Amino acid sequence: VTVNDAAPVKAVPTLPDAQTVTSVKHWTDRLFSFRVSRPQSLRFRSGEFVMIGLMGENGRPLLRAYSIASPSWDEELEFYSIKVQDGPLTSRLQHIQPGDEIILRPKPVGTLVHDALLPGKRLYFFATGTGIAPFASLIRDPETYENYDEVILTHTCREVAELEYGRQLVESLRDDPLIGELVGDKLKYYPTTTREESPKMGRITELLKSGQVFEDLGIPPLNPETDRAMVCGSLGLNNDIKEILEAAGLREGANSDPKEYVVEKAFVG
Ligand code: A2P
Repeated sequence: VTVNDAAPVKAVPTLPDAQTVTSVKHWTDRLFSFRVSRPQSLRFRSGEFVMIGLMGENGRPLLRAYSIASPSWDEELEFYSIKVQDGPLTSRLQHIQPGDEIILRPKPVGTLVHDALLPGKRLYFFATGTGIAPFASLIRDPETYENYDEVILTHTCREVAELEYGRQLVESLRDDPLIGELVGDKLKYYPTTTREESPKMGRITELLKSGQVFEDLGIPPLNPETDRAMVCGSLGLNNDIKEILEAAGLREGANSDPKEYVVEKAFVG
């Protein structure tokens, strides 16, 4: 019998609901994305979130809600996260490496799903910061392009580097062998910054109120007959966009009661 020291040791999960990290990418000193193995039985709708985390010092799981950033057809799961130096979870999560394990509770839920919207022609995704995560999933979902003639992704961040994850994703879609053709010219990307010079500056709320967004994209103003929206950002952003959408005649929907727009708070801290 020969014993091969180099033979890979089959990983034995040590955590409940353990999944293995397959890759990690740091975008800025405050943002990173990572991919993990996907439980074979996990089905989810693009836009939904799950609870993920690490084992806490007290021996109990430390979990937070994270939108799944990958599309439902992907073999792995992707997440996009902030790093908070004194954040209970992200102060540790930011140090994960390929091969490490995280905890993932396989119970996806959420309101940023196609089922919560009535049929329409134009779909807006309004994101700030890490709020782009659910839309990173939805813009890779064929259903998005089957259901709508036009898809508009707005992303507002303080600085240019914070847009990079979304920018690269949108760029890669055009050549994507799986959905590139479906996306075609339907997806319009509208990135803006508020605290660093870039081609388009300002809060999306102000750009909507002034009509600048519609002028830049060459589209008519918000119309409840044709337009649908999903919103994901800070509490302040969500409330301010809601006000704008309601003023335009759009109503908030839910899984059980589809209407013209839906909102969810992005993961914070
Ligand atoms: P601003 O720089 O003017 O605050 P944060 O990092 O604080 O979550 O913000 C992410 C982006 O969202 C920033 O560009 C920020 O703009 C913008 N933002 C924050 N709150 C609102 C709001 N209530 N309405 C519109 N944009 C907002």
